[in-house]
Amino acid sequence: MKGIILAGGSGTRLSPSTDSINKHLLAVYDKPMIYYPLSILMLGGLKDIMIISTPQDLPRFEELLGDGSGLGISISYKEQANPRGIPEAFLLAEDFIGKDNVTLILGDNLFYGQGFTTLFRDALAKHKHATVFGYRVKDPERFGVVEFDHKQHVLSIEEKPENPKSDFAVTGLYIYDHRAIDFARKLSFSKRGELEITDLNKEYLKRNELDVQLLGRGFAWMDAGTHDSLFEASEFVKNIQDRQGFKVACLEEIAYYMGYITKDKLHKKGKAMEKTDYGQYLLDIASRKHTQQYWDAIEHKPMLGLVEND
Ligand code: TTP
Repeated sequence: MKGIILAGGSGTRLSPSTDSINKHLLAVYDKPMIYYPLSILMLGGLKDIMIISTPQDLPRFEELLGDGSGLGISISYKEQANPRGIPEAFLLAEDFIGKDNVTLILGDNLFYGQGFTTLFRDALAKHKHATVFGYRVKDPERFGVVEFDHKQHVLSIEEKPENPKSDFAVTGLYIYDHRAIDFARKLSFSKRGELEITDLNKEYLKRNELDVQLLGRGFAWMDAGTHDSLFEASEFVKNIQDRQGFKVACLEEIAYYMGYITKDKLHKKGKAMEKTDYGQYLLDIASRKHTQQYWDAIEHKPMLGLVEND
């Protein structure tokens, strides 16, 4: 399974903050926005990840995350010259995807909630052709809306409908087989001049191959695309972190508990930034003795073999 983070776009709604910097490099509370979607892919066990962004912004992402080896993963980069729509990601990443399945996450989407990792991993494990994640919202007409029956079979999917057939929005996390590339190639541009992800999903639905996984009321899903939602996302992260002492989307923590980096490496990273709260957090984790229990306690039970020198 390959992973893609789509982090281009124009970010016009966040102007002037985004006039000279890419939206996904802005901070959501104490870390860059892109950490959040990257953490989701890592928690899903994806290790081969491509970040797609604008030609002018790509070098900054590379500066931030490098080739991923600091996190024990592989990160590659691809330019999207213009924001021509989400499905264009599959055309740009054609060689990267090859014959694999692919998970795409939008760079400004945040997912959080007890059990999310398990749910996401289950969805990855049972994924067949195309899987989207549905989340109940108050204002479905602003989103792609998925309608389904009592067995969760998808009945329809519509982009920003005037009269939504359900209250469930399609979130910015999608899993596809490699045919997404061919389907994307055949799409036409919409009135707003973009290839539409809803049209791609309709291709799968036409073949009865679109599955929906619902995120229940215990989950938070937000995008940070406006000043208000960016502020709210920051507040949300701050509240959770202050309350629990766990950081949300701490990439080194995830890499460590996934067994991708050693305790020594974690400690070194913490030391290099020890003047910051983030660095202190890494040092604290590196100094803990009962690491597996600690990790279990925050839900990620079944799967994690710790690295050998622990
Ligand atoms: P949007 O929020 O639809 O667009 P935007 O980020 O350009 O912002 P604005 O509407 O304020 O101008 O994009 C959703 C996400 O998808 C966001 O993380 C950017 C990303 N994206 C791309 O990387 N390339 C694209 O072609 C599109 C349409 C979106």
